[in-house]
Amino acid sequence: MKKIIGVFDSGIGGLTILDELKNILPNENYFYFGDSKNNPYGQKTDEELEKIVDEIVKDLIKRGAKIIVVACNTATAKCIESLRKKFPEMIFVGTEPAVKLACEMDYKNILVLATPGTIQSERVEELVLKNKKPEQNIKLFACPGLADAIETKDEEKIKLKLSELFDNLEKDFDAVVLGCTHYSHIKNELSEIFPKAKLIDGNKNIAKQVQKVLQENNLLNESEEKGKIEIIFSGDSK
Ligand code: DGL
Repeated sequence: MKKIIGVFDSGIGGLTILDELKNILPNENYFYFGDSKNNPYGQKTDEELEKIVDEIVKDLIKRGAKIIVVACNTATAKCIESLRKKFPEMIFVGTEPAVKLACEMDYKNILVLATPGTIQSERVEELVLKNKKPEQNIKLFACPGLADAIETKDEEKIKLKLSELFDNLEKDFDAVVLGCTHYSHIKNELSEIFPKAKLIDGNKNIAKQVQKVLQENNLLNESEEKGKIEIIFSGDSK
């Protein structure tokens, strides 16, 4: 069986990470699972999400995954620790809001956008405590419904949701952290709303981390040929 890099998210969000992976590791074989049927993950209970994610991981292992990229901030914040315990043989790389990167880049007024599940997670609290310098101000802002709207790809719905969320918010941030992989699909819209801010996602760093872990474990695909990419969404016939 061909060994694959398994990547999953609650739909189209993680495709932005898959793009970065393909750029730096073009010879790898990928299997992407977009769980649109269960979108949004950000409004699920921990128990519901754990059950969903366990099934996806079992399926990716059956398909020959040598590493699994949890291309979703919410599933990472809530489930990655229990996944590592339940599947000790598997290597997991997760996704988390790029708070560390924004703090290192010395932005002063940072807005972190993510799903309610991610914003309420202990992991985000930890990230802020660990990385924030005294002169920095970090505002955590939950965006219920935004990932779902992006998943529909309906521009009107997305516009409405953006205006509902941000019309009454001050806009004077110098950095906006995209703490949900879906949000990287609407960078143009977000730049219009926050014209002074640098938009930051951690997608490139996640791809580099996958490369590093594969190298360390001697798991890089040695083939000279371009790898195969299979993309499936729940609800599609398999
Ligand atoms: N794309 C996901 C994330 O990074 C989750 C979106 C959702 O299903 O709520 O958090």
